Amino acid sequence: MNLHLKPLLPKTLFARAVLIVALPTVLVQLVAVYAFYNRHWENVTRRMANTLTGEIVFLAQHTRTVNRADRQALMRVFEETTGINASFEPGATLSPEASDRGTGFDEFRQVLQERIDLPFTVQRLPDRENMIVRVQMKDGVLAFRMSVKRLESPTTTIFISWMAGSSLVFLLIAIVFLRNQVRPIRRLAAAAENFGKGRDDPDFKPSGASEVRRAARAFLVMRERIQRQLRSRTEMLAGISHDLRTPLTRMKLQLAMLGDMPEAAEMAADVAQMEHMIDEYLDFAAGDGGEAAAPVSLNALLQGVADDYQRSGQPVTLHVGEDGVIEIRPNAMRRVLHNLIDNALRYGKRCTVSARLISTQAEIAVDDEGPGIPEGQREEVFRPFTRLDASRNLNAGGVGLGLTIARDIARGHGGNITLSESPAGGLRVLIRLPL
Ligand SMILES: Nc1ncnc2c1ncn2[C@@H]1O[C@H](COP(=O)(O)OP(=O)(O)OP(=O)(O)O)[C@@H](O)[C@H]1O
Ligand SMILES: [Mg+2]
Repeated sequence: MNLHLKPLLPKTLFARAVLIVALPTVLVQLVAVYAFYNRHWENVTRRMANTLTGEIVFLAQHTRTVNRADRQALMRVFEETTGINASFEPGATLSPEASDRGTGFDEFRQVLQERIDLPFTVQRLPDRENMIVRVQMKDGVLAFRMSVKRLESPTTTIFISWMAGSSLVFLLIAIVFLRNQVRPIRRLAAAAENFGKGRDDPDFKPSGASEVRRAARAFLVMRERIQRQLRSRTEMLAGISHDLRTPLTRMKLQLAMLGDMPEAAEMAADVAQMEHMIDEYLDFAAGDGGEAAAPVSLNALLQGVADDYQRSGQPVTLHVGEDGVIEIRPNAMRRVLHNLIDNALRYGKRCTVSARLISTQAEIAVDDEGPGIPEGQREEVFRPFTRLDASRNLNAGGVGLGLTIARDIARGHGGNITLSESPAGGLRVLIRLPL
Protein backbone atom coordinates (compact mmCIF):
# COMPACT_ATOMS: atom_id res chain seq x y z
CA MET A 1 0.00 0.00 0.00
CA ASN A 2 2.75 2.36 1.04
CA LEU A 3 4.77 1.42 -1.99
CA HIS A 4 1.91 2.23 -4.33
CA LEU A 5 1.17 5.61 -2.81
CA LYS A 6 4.73 6.85 -2.70
CA PRO A 7 5.08 7.92 -6.33
CA LEU A 8 1.84 9.87 -6.00
CA LEU A 9 2.96 11.84 -2.95
CA PRO A 10 4.39 15.27 -3.65
CA LYS A 11 8.12 15.50 -3.10
CA THR A 12 8.57 18.77 -1.25
CA LEU A 13 7.74 19.37 2.39
CA PHE A 14 5.67 22.39 1.43
CA ALA A 15 3.48 20.45 -1.00
CA ARG A 16 3.02 17.67 1.54
CA ALA A 17 2.00 20.13 4.25
CA VAL A 18 -0.52 21.74 1.90
CA LEU A 19 -1.88 18.31 1.10
CA ILE A 20 -2.21 17.49 4.80
CA VAL A 21 -4.23 20.67 5.32
CA ALA A 22 -6.29 20.49 2.14
CA LEU A 23 -7.25 16.83 2.16
CA PRO A 24 -9.23 16.82 5.44
CA THR A 25 -10.93 20.08 4.46
CA VAL A 26 -12.14 18.65 1.18
CA LEU A 27 -13.21 15.38 2.81
CA VAL A 28 -15.16 17.16 5.56
CA GLN A 29 -16.97 19.19 2.93
CA LEU A 30 -17.84 16.17 0.84
CA VAL A 31 -19.21 14.38 3.89
CA ALA A 32 -21.18 17.47 4.94
CA VAL A 33 -22.64 18.00 1.49
CA TYR A 34 -23.53 14.36 1.14
CA ALA A 35 -24.87 13.55 4.60
CA PHE A 36 -26.64 16.75 5.49
CA TYR A 37 -27.33 18.73 2.42
CA ASN A 38 -28.33 15.88 0.18
CA ARG A 39 -31.20 14.99 2.53
CA HIS A 40 -32.18 18.56 3.11
CA TRP A 41 -32.18 19.17 -0.60
CA GLU A 42 -34.40 16.16 -1.27
CA ASN A 43 -36.91 17.49 1.22
CA VAL A 44 -36.98 20.90 -0.32
CA THR A 45 -37.36 19.47 -3.83
CA ARG A 46 -40.26 17.30 -2.80
CA ARG A 47 -42.04 20.21 -1.18
CA MET A 48 -41.56 22.42 -4.20
CA ALA A 49 -42.88 19.67 -6.46
CA ASN A 50 -45.91 19.29 -4.21
CA THR A 51 -46.71 22.98 -4.26
CA LEU A 52 -46.42 23.28 -8.04
CA THR A 53 -48.46 20.14 -8.56
CA GLY A 54 -51.18 21.57 -6.32
CA GLU A 55 -51.39 24.72 -8.40
CA ILE A 56 -51.52 22.86 -11.70
CA VAL A 57 -54.12 20.37 -10.47
CA PHE A 58 -56.21 23.25 -9.13
CA LEU A 59 -56.42 24.99 -12.50
CA ALA A 60 -56.88 21.77 -14.44
CA GLN A 61 -59.84 20.78 -12.25
CA HIS A 62 -61.49 24.19 -12.43
CA THR A 63 -61.18 24.73 -16.16
CA ARG A 64 -63.22 21.57 -16.60
CA THR A 65 -66.20 23.06 -14.83
CA VAL A 66 -66.36 26.57 -16.33
CA ASN A 67 -67.31 27.81 -19.79
CA ARG A 68 -64.89 29.28 -22.31
CA ALA A 69 -65.22 32.98 -21.32
CA ASP A 70 -64.81 32.26 -17.63
CA ARG A 71 -61.87 30.06 -18.45
CA GLN A 72 -59.91 33.09 -19.79
CA ALA A 73 -60.71 35.06 -16.63
CA LEU A 74 -59.75 32.11 -14.46
CA MET A 75 -56.41 31.76 -16.18
CA ARG A 76 -55.68 35.46 -15.75
CA VAL A 77 -56.42 35.32 -12.05
CA PHE A 78 -54.34 32.18 -11.81
CA GLU A 79 -51.36 33.94 -13.39
CA GLU A 80 -51.73 36.94 -11.11
CA THR A 81 -51.76 34.85 -7.95
CA THR A 82 -49.24 32.12 -8.81
CA GLY A 83 -46.99 33.75 -11.39
CA ILE A 84 -47.55 30.78 -13.69
CA ASN A 85 -48.56 31.66 -17.23
CA ALA A 86 -51.40 29.40 -18.31
CA SER A 87 -52.86 29.14 -21.79
CA PHE A 88 -55.31 26.90 -23.53
CA GLU A 89 -54.82 25.44 -26.98
CA PRO A 90 -58.31 24.36 -28.13
CA GLY A 91 -58.48 21.09 -30.04
CA ALA A 92 -54.77 20.28 -29.62
CA THR A 93 -53.41 16.91 -28.59
CA LEU A 94 -50.21 16.12 -26.71
CA SER A 95 -47.25 14.81 -28.61
CA PRO A 96 -45.58 12.35 -26.28
CA GLU A 97 -42.05 13.11 -27.53
CA ALA A 98 -42.37 16.68 -26.26
CA SER A 99 -41.62 15.38 -22.82
CA ASP A 100 -37.89 15.05 -22.60
CA ARG A 101 -37.21 12.56 -19.88
CA GLY A 102 -33.53 13.28 -19.71
CA THR A 103 -33.87 16.72 -18.17
CA GLY A 104 -34.73 15.68 -14.65
CA PHE A 105 -37.87 16.82 -12.81
CA ASP A 106 -38.34 13.13 -11.93
CA GLU A 107 -39.63 14.00 -8.49
CA PHE A 108 -42.13 16.43 -9.95
CA ARG A 109 -43.31 14.01 -12.66
CA GLN A 110 -43.90 11.38 -10.04
CA VAL A 111 -45.90 13.66 -7.77
CA LEU A 112 -47.94 15.01 -10.70
CA GLN A 113 -48.61 11.48 -11.92
CA GLU A 114 -50.04 10.58 -8.54
CA ARG A 115 -52.35 13.57 -8.33
CA ILE A 116 -53.66 14.16 -11.82
CA ASP A 117 -55.61 11.60 -13.80
CA LEU A 118 -54.87 13.23 -17.16
CA PRO A 119 -51.99 12.67 -19.58
CA PHE A 120 -49.28 15.32 -19.34
CA THR A 121 -45.79 16.23 -20.53
CA VAL A 122 -43.00 18.18 -18.84
CA GLN A 123 -40.41 19.98 -20.91
CA ARG A 124 -37.51 22.25 -20.22
CA LEU A 125 -37.34 25.09 -22.72
CA PRO A 126 -34.18 25.62 -24.77
CA ASP A 127 -33.33 28.71 -22.68
CA ARG A 128 -32.81 26.25 -19.76
CA GLU A 129 -34.49 28.71 -17.38
CA ASN A 130 -38.12 28.04 -18.15
CA MET A 131 -40.23 24.94 -18.36
CA ILE A 132 -43.55 24.05 -19.82
CA VAL A 133 -46.09 21.56 -18.47
CA ARG A 134 -48.85 20.46 -20.84
CA VAL A 135 -51.95 18.69 -19.65
CA GLN A 136 -54.31 16.95 -22.06
CA MET A 137 -57.90 18.09 -21.46
CA LYS A 138 -60.99 16.78 -23.17
CA ASP A 139 -61.17 19.63 -25.72
CA GLY A 140 -57.57 20.75 -25.98
CA VAL A 141 -54.24 21.18 -24.18
CA LEU A 142 -53.71 23.30 -21.10
CA ALA A 143 -50.14 24.65 -21.07
CA PHE A 144 -48.36 26.02 -17.99
CA ARG A 145 -45.25 28.02 -18.47
CA MET A 146 -42.99 28.94 -15.54
CA SER A 147 -39.46 29.34 -14.36
CA VAL A 148 -37.58 26.17 -13.40
CA LYS A 149 -36.75 27.95 -10.13
CA ARG A 150 -40.17 26.73 -9.00
CA LEU A 151 -38.64 23.26 -8.82
CA GLU A 152 -34.93 23.77 -8.36
CA SER A 153 -33.68 25.30 -5.16
CA PRO A 154 -30.95 27.85 -5.85
CA THR A 155 -29.67 27.47 -2.29
CA THR A 156 -27.79 24.32 -3.32
CA THR A 157 -25.36 26.19 -5.51
CA ILE A 158 -25.18 29.07 -3.05
CA PHE A 159 -24.41 26.69 -0.22
CA ILE A 160 -21.74 24.82 -2.15
CA SER A 161 -20.09 27.96 -3.48
CA TRP A 162 -19.97 29.49 -0.01
CA MET A 163 -18.41 26.36 1.36
CA ALA A 164 -15.88 26.01 -1.45
CA GLY A 165 -15.16 29.74 -1.48
CA SER A 166 -14.57 30.05 2.24
CA SER A 167 -12.37 26.96 2.39
CA LEU A 168 -10.39 28.28 -0.55
CA VAL A 169 -9.74 31.47 1.40
CA PHE A 170 -8.69 29.46 4.48
CA LEU A 171 -6.48 27.27 2.34
CA LEU A 172 -4.76 30.34 0.89
CA ILE A 173 -4.13 31.65 4.41
CA ALA A 174 -2.78 28.23 5.42
CA ILE A 175 -0.49 28.20 2.38
CA VAL A 176 0.98 31.56 3.37
CA PHE A 177 1.65 30.30 6.91
CA LEU A 178 3.04 26.98 5.71
CA ARG A 179 5.36 28.73 3.31
CA ASN A 180 6.79 30.70 6.21
CA GLN A 181 7.29 27.50 8.18
CA VAL A 182 9.08 25.75 5.35
CA ARG A 183 11.35 28.65 4.43
CA PRO A 184 13.78 28.23 7.40
CA ILE A 185 14.20 24.55 6.51
CA ARG A 186 14.98 25.50 2.92
CA ARG A 187 17.53 28.05 4.14
CA LEU A 188 19.18 25.48 6.37
CA ALA A 189 19.38 23.02 3.47
CA ALA A 190 20.92 25.71 1.25
CA ALA A 191 23.46 26.68 3.93
CA ALA A 192 24.49 23.04 4.42
CA GLU A 193 24.77 22.61 0.65
CA ASN A 194 26.90 25.72 0.32
CA PHE A 195 29.18 24.60 3.11
CA GLY A 196 29.56 21.20 1.44
CA LYS A 197 30.64 23.00 -1.73
CA GLY A 198 33.12 25.11 0.20
CA ARG A 199 31.15 28.32 -0.35
CA ASP A 200 30.72 30.95 2.29
CA ASP A 201 27.29 31.67 3.70
CA PRO A 202 27.99 34.14 6.52
CA ASP A 203 24.41 35.52 6.61
CA PHE A 204 22.82 32.28 7.67
CA LYS A 205 21.01 32.53 11.01
CA PRO A 206 18.77 30.02 12.76
CA SER A 207 15.09 30.90 12.38
CA GLY A 208 11.68 29.29 12.39
CA ALA A 209 10.16 26.66 14.66
CA SER A 210 12.20 25.44 17.62
CA GLU A 211 13.13 22.10 16.02
CA VAL A 212 14.39 23.85 12.92
CA ARG A 213 16.32 26.33 15.02
CA ARG A 214 17.89 23.49 16.94
CA ALA A 215 18.99 21.78 13.74
CA ALA A 216 20.33 25.11 12.42
CA ARG A 217 22.26 25.78 15.62
CA ALA A 218 23.71 22.28 15.56
CA PHE A 219 24.75 22.88 11.95
CA LEU A 220 26.45 26.17 12.87
CA VAL A 221 28.38 24.53 15.72
CA MET A 222 29.43 21.73 13.40
CA ARG A 223 30.46 24.17 10.68
CA GLU A 224 32.49 26.19 13.16
CA ARG A 225 34.26 23.07 14.42
CA ILE A 226 35.14 21.86 10.95
CA GLN A 227 36.37 25.32 9.96
CA ARG A 228 38.48 25.50 13.11
CA GLN A 229 40.02 22.14 12.37
CA LEU A 230 40.78 23.13 8.80
CA ARG A 231 42.31 26.38 9.98
CA SER A 232 44.52 24.72 12.57
CA ARG A 233 45.64 22.09 10.08
CA THR A 234 46.59 24.78 7.58
CA GLU A 235 48.31 26.88 10.22
CA MET A 236 50.25 23.91 11.49
CA LEU A 237 51.38 22.96 8.00
CA ALA A 238 52.44 26.51 7.32
CA GLY A 239 54.26 26.70 10.65
CA ILE A 240 56.17 23.46 10.17
CA SER A 241 57.11 24.26 6.61
CA HIS A 242 58.30 27.68 7.56
CA ASP A 243 60.37 26.41 10.49
CA LEU A 244 61.98 23.72 8.36
CA ARG A 245 63.13 26.20 5.78
CA THR A 246 65.66 27.88 8.07
CA PRO A 247 67.75 24.76 8.87
CA LEU A 248 67.45 23.68 5.24
CA THR A 249 68.88 26.96 4.03
CA ARG A 250 71.71 26.52 6.52
CA MET A 251 72.38 22.99 5.25
CA LYS A 252 72.43 24.26 1.68
CA LEU A 253 75.06 26.84 2.62
CA GLN A 254 77.15 24.24 4.42
CA LEU A 255 76.94 21.87 1.44
CA ALA A 256 78.01 24.62 -0.89
CA MET A 257 81.07 25.21 1.30
CA LEU A 258 81.98 21.51 1.19
CA GLY A 259 82.83 21.85 -2.47
CA ASP A 260 82.75 19.13 -5.14
CA MET A 261 82.66 16.01 -2.95
CA PRO A 262 80.37 13.26 -4.41
CA GLU A 263 78.62 12.83 -1.04
CA ALA A 264 77.87 16.51 -1.03
CA ALA A 265 76.21 16.26 -4.44
CA GLU A 266 73.93 13.45 -3.22
CA MET A 267 73.05 15.38 -0.10
CA ALA A 268 72.36 18.46 -2.17
CA ALA A 269 69.89 16.43 -4.22
CA ASP A 270 68.16 15.28 -1.03
CA VAL A 271 68.02 18.80 0.26
CA ALA A 272 66.57 19.96 -3.02
CA GLN A 273 63.89 17.29 -2.76
CA MET A 274 63.09 18.36 0.78
CA GLU A 275 62.77 21.94 -0.37
CA HIS A 276 60.40 20.85 -3.09
CA MET A 277 58.25 19.04 -0.50
CA ILE A 278 58.21 22.03 1.75
CA ASP A 279 57.23 24.24 -1.15
CA GLU A 280 54.33 21.91 -1.81
CA TYR A 281 53.20 22.11 1.81
CA LEU A 282 53.50 25.87 1.82
CA ASP A 283 51.65 26.21 -1.45
CA PHE A 284 48.94 23.98 -0.15
CA ALA A 285 48.68 25.85 3.11
CA ALA A 286 48.55 29.22 1.38
CA GLY A 287 46.53 28.15 -1.62
CA ASP A 288 43.57 26.69 0.16
CA GLY A 289 43.63 28.56 3.41
CA GLY A 290 41.42 31.61 3.42
CA GLU A 291 40.90 31.99 -0.31
CA ALA A 292 37.34 33.07 -1.02
CA ALA A 293 35.16 31.38 -3.60
CA ALA A 294 34.26 33.54 -6.59
CA PRO A 295 32.24 33.02 -9.76
CA VAL A 296 34.69 32.13 -12.52
CA SER A 297 34.24 31.34 -16.19
CA LEU A 298 35.23 27.71 -16.60
CA ASN A 299 36.64 28.12 -20.09
CA ALA A 300 38.65 31.23 -19.18
CA LEU A 301 40.20 29.41 -16.23
CA LEU A 302 41.19 26.43 -18.38
CA GLN A 303 42.49 28.65 -21.17
CA GLY A 304 44.66 30.54 -18.67
CA VAL A 305 46.23 27.36 -17.36
CA ALA A 306 46.73 25.91 -20.84
CA ASP A 307 48.38 29.16 -21.99
CA ASP A 308 50.92 28.89 -19.16
CA TYR A 309 52.06 25.53 -20.50
CA GLN A 310 51.86 26.39 -24.17
CA ARG A 311 54.01 29.49 -23.67
CA SER A 312 56.83 27.33 -22.37
CA GLY A 313 56.35 24.97 -25.32
CA GLN A 314 54.76 22.07 -23.43
CA PRO A 315 52.42 19.74 -25.36
CA VAL A 316 49.12 20.67 -23.72
CA THR A 317 45.96 20.80 -25.88
CA LEU A 318 42.64 22.25 -24.74
CA HIS A 319 39.13 21.35 -25.96
CA VAL A 320 36.30 23.37 -24.44
CA GLY A 321 32.60 23.28 -25.11
CA GLU A 322 29.82 25.49 -23.82
CA ASP A 323 31.09 27.88 -21.14
CA GLY A 324 29.67 27.98 -17.64
CA VAL A 325 30.21 30.06 -14.54
CA ILE A 326 31.36 28.02 -11.56
CA GLU A 327 31.80 29.21 -8.02
CA ILE A 328 35.30 28.15 -7.01
CA ARG A 329 38.47 29.27 -5.29
CA PRO A 330 40.38 30.08 -8.48
CA ASN A 331 43.94 29.69 -7.20
CA ALA A 332 43.18 26.39 -5.56
CA MET A 333 41.52 25.14 -8.73
CA ARG A 334 44.48 26.29 -10.83
CA ARG A 335 46.67 24.29 -8.51
CA VAL A 336 44.54 21.20 -9.10
CA LEU A 337 44.92 21.60 -12.85
CA HIS A 338 48.67 22.20 -12.59
CA ASN A 339 49.11 19.08 -10.47
CA LEU A 340 47.17 16.92 -12.92
CA ILE A 341 48.75 18.37 -16.06
CA ASP A 342 52.22 18.08 -14.49
CA ASN A 343 51.52 14.42 -13.85
CA ALA A 344 50.26 13.86 -17.38
CA LEU A 345 53.36 15.49 -18.84
CA ARG A 346 55.72 13.77 -16.45
CA TYR A 347 54.31 10.25 -16.77
CA GLY A 348 52.52 10.42 -20.09
CA LYS A 349 54.27 12.95 -22.36
CA ARG A 350 51.35 14.62 -24.14
CA CYS A 351 48.34 16.07 -22.31
CA THR A 352 44.82 16.87 -23.48
CA VAL A 353 42.42 18.86 -21.32
CA SER A 354 38.71 18.86 -22.22
CA ALA A 355 35.68 20.26 -20.46
CA ARG A 356 31.92 20.03 -20.73
CA LEU A 357 28.83 20.87 -18.74
CA ILE A 358 26.37 18.16 -17.85
CA SER A 359 23.16 19.37 -16.19
CA THR A 360 24.28 20.33 -12.67
CA GLN A 361 28.01 19.86 -12.93
CA ALA A 362 31.13 20.72 -14.84
CA GLU A 363 33.36 17.87 -15.95
CA ILE A 364 37.02 18.42 -16.75
CA ALA A 365 39.06 15.53 -18.16
CA VAL A 366 42.86 15.47 -18.20
CA ASP A 367 44.10 12.75 -20.57
CA ASP A 368 47.58 11.55 -21.37
CA GLU A 369 49.19 8.90 -23.54
CA GLY A 370 51.36 7.32 -20.88
CA PRO A 371 51.23 3.91 -19.20
CA GLY A 372 48.23 4.81 -17.06
CA ILE A 373 47.61 3.42 -13.60
CA PRO A 374 46.42 -0.17 -13.09
CA GLU A 375 42.87 -0.34 -11.83
CA GLY A 376 43.83 -1.81 -8.45
CA GLN A 377 46.06 1.16 -7.65
CA ARG A 378 43.78 3.99 -8.67
CA GLU A 379 42.64 4.65 -5.10
CA GLU A 380 46.04 4.11 -3.58
CA VAL A 381 47.74 6.93 -5.51
CA PHE A 382 45.49 9.48 -3.78
CA ARG A 383 47.09 8.69 -0.44
CA PRO A 384 49.76 11.18 0.68
CA PHE A 385 53.32 10.34 -0.34
CA THR A 386 52.23 7.43 -2.50
CA ARG A 387 54.28 6.97 -5.63
CA LEU A 388 54.09 3.98 -7.86
CA ASP A 389 57.23 1.94 -8.55
CA ALA A 390 57.33 2.99 -12.18
CA SER A 391 57.57 6.65 -11.32
CA ARG A 392 60.01 6.01 -8.50
CA ASN A 393 62.34 4.45 -11.05
CA LEU A 394 61.85 7.47 -13.25
CA ASN A 395 63.39 9.48 -10.43
CA ALA A 396 61.33 12.37 -11.66
CA GLY A 397 61.40 14.11 -8.32
CA GLY A 398 57.77 13.90 -7.26
CA VAL A 399 56.90 13.57 -3.60
CA GLY A 400 53.53 11.89 -3.99
CA LEU A 401 51.36 14.76 -2.81
CA GLY A 402 50.00 16.11 -6.10
CA LEU A 403 46.92 13.89 -6.37
CA THR A 404 46.21 14.07 -2.63
CA ILE A 405 46.13 17.84 -2.73
CA ALA A 406 44.09 17.89 -5.94
CA ARG A 407 41.39 15.61 -4.59
CA ASP A 408 41.33 17.49 -1.30
CA ILE A 409 40.65 20.75 -3.11
CA ALA A 410 38.03 19.22 -5.43
CA ARG A 411 36.18 17.71 -2.49
CA GLY A 412 36.39 21.02 -0.67
CA HIS A 413 34.38 22.42 -3.60
CA GLY A 414 31.72 19.71 -3.26
CA GLY A 415 33.20 17.87 -6.24
CA ASN A 416 35.53 14.92 -6.70
CA ILE A 417 38.39 13.51 -8.75
CA THR A 418 38.38 10.02 -10.19
CA LEU A 419 40.79 8.05 -12.36
CA SER A 420 39.99 5.92 -15.38
CA GLU A 421 41.41 4.88 -18.71
CA SER A 422 41.88 7.49 -21.39
CA PRO A 423 40.68 6.83 -24.93
CA ALA A 424 44.16 8.11 -25.90
CA GLY A 425 45.66 5.09 -24.14
CA GLY A 426 47.00 6.54 -20.90
CA LEU A 427 45.36 7.82 -17.77
CA ARG A 428 42.21 9.91 -17.64
CA VAL A 429 41.70 12.09 -14.59
CA LEU A 430 38.15 13.35 -14.24
CA ILE A 431 37.35 16.42 -12.16
CA ARG A 432 33.69 16.93 -11.37
CA LEU A 433 32.51 20.20 -9.88
CA PRO A 434 28.99 21.26 -8.97
CA LEU A 435 27.69 24.28 -10.87
N1 LIG B 1 49.20 10.59 -15.49
C1 LIG B 1 49.76 9.58 -14.81
N2 LIG B 1 50.16 8.45 -15.43
C2 LIG B 1 50.70 7.45 -14.74
N3 LIG B 1 50.88 7.45 -13.42
C3 LIG B 1 50.53 8.54 -12.74
C4 LIG B 1 49.93 9.65 -13.38
N4 LIG B 1 49.64 10.58 -12.44
C5 LIG B 1 50.06 10.07 -11.27
N5 LIG B 1 50.59 8.86 -11.43
C6 LIG B 1 51.13 7.99 -10.37
O1 LIG B 1 50.54 8.38 -9.13
C7 LIG B 1 51.54 8.75 -8.21
C8 LIG B 1 51.04 9.85 -7.32
O2 LIG B 1 50.89 11.06 -8.05
P1 LIG B 1 51.04 12.43 -7.33
O3 LIG B 1 50.79 13.50 -8.31
O4 LIG B 1 50.20 12.36 -6.12
O5 LIG B 1 52.52 12.44 -6.87
P2 LIG B 1 53.84 12.72 -7.71
O6 LIG B 1 53.47 13.17 -9.07
O7 LIG B 1 54.65 11.49 -7.58
O8 LIG B 1 54.50 13.88 -6.88
P3 LIG B 1 54.08 15.40 -6.78
O9 LIG B 1 53.70 15.56 -5.36
O10 LIG B 1 55.26 16.18 -7.18
O11 LIG B 1 52.89 15.58 -7.71
C9 LIG B 1 52.71 9.15 -9.06
O12 LIG B 1 53.92 8.97 -8.36
C10 LIG B 1 52.60 8.19 -10.25
O13 LIG B 1 53.18 6.95 -9.90
MG1 LIG C 1 52.19 14.77 -9.32
